[in-house]
Amino acid sequence: MTSLKPPARGVADSTTTMTEFVMPSHANALGSVFGGQVMAWVDLAAAICAQRHTGSIVLTAGIDELCFERPIRVGEVALVTAYATAAFGTSLEIRVEVQGENATTRERWPCVSAFVTFVAVDAELRPAKVPPLELHGDVERAAAAAAAARRAARLARRART
Ligand SMILES: CC(C)(COP(=O)(O)OP(=O)(O)OC[C@H]1O[C@@H](n2cnc3c(N)ncnc32)[C@H](O)[C@@H]1OP(=O)(O)O)[C@@H](O)C(=O)NCCC(=O)NCCS
Repeated sequence: MTSLKPPARGVADSTTTMTEFVMPSHANALGSVFGGQVMAWVDLAAAICAQRHTGSIVLTAGIDELCFERPIRVGEVALVTAYATAAFGTSLEIRVEVQGENATTRERWPCVSAFVTFVAVDAELRPAKVPPLELHGDVERAAAAAAAARRAARLARRART
């Protein structure tokens, strides 16, 4: 593992947003966006966020608590927001929220949310230390505490398999 620990960065320094117009090529047979397409956008936005925070190449270690709430139909918009909830040793957790939008009425609704864990790696693809995440305020501190509990559960599951 690379030992040099870079300086802390705040949540806002790496928060990433993507706006996607849902085209027929993104759709399933029902005329709404294909779930796998939304998952690709989730992974991409989260990876950009993780790279911005770590300044490193990152590998997706896992995606969990992925929930599909409401569809987004062809001709509507997907708004993807990714932000870091906690940084650990060589890994970090990113929260991703996808909203649907009707751009003509500006109506918005929750579509998908998930937590994505990344591992930062060096040029030899060995896990590398990630910068600490600077936390401001009770909301960010609570999110980091919840992320630490999820990480403990993930690692316990991993140890059992
Ligand atoms: C993710 C990966 C790098 C972990 O490698 P590893 O040799 O198991 O590394 P370690 O056991 O040293 O763990 C490295 C970090 O990953 C975390 N980790 C490993 N597996 C995890 C999992 N399933 N869930 C959450 N975190 C995990 C560890 O907690 C550790 O983080 P920490 O330093 O913050 O505690 C490795 O499993 C891998 O390369 N997986 C494939 C990744 C991939 O191809 N992704 C898709 C394309 S990007």
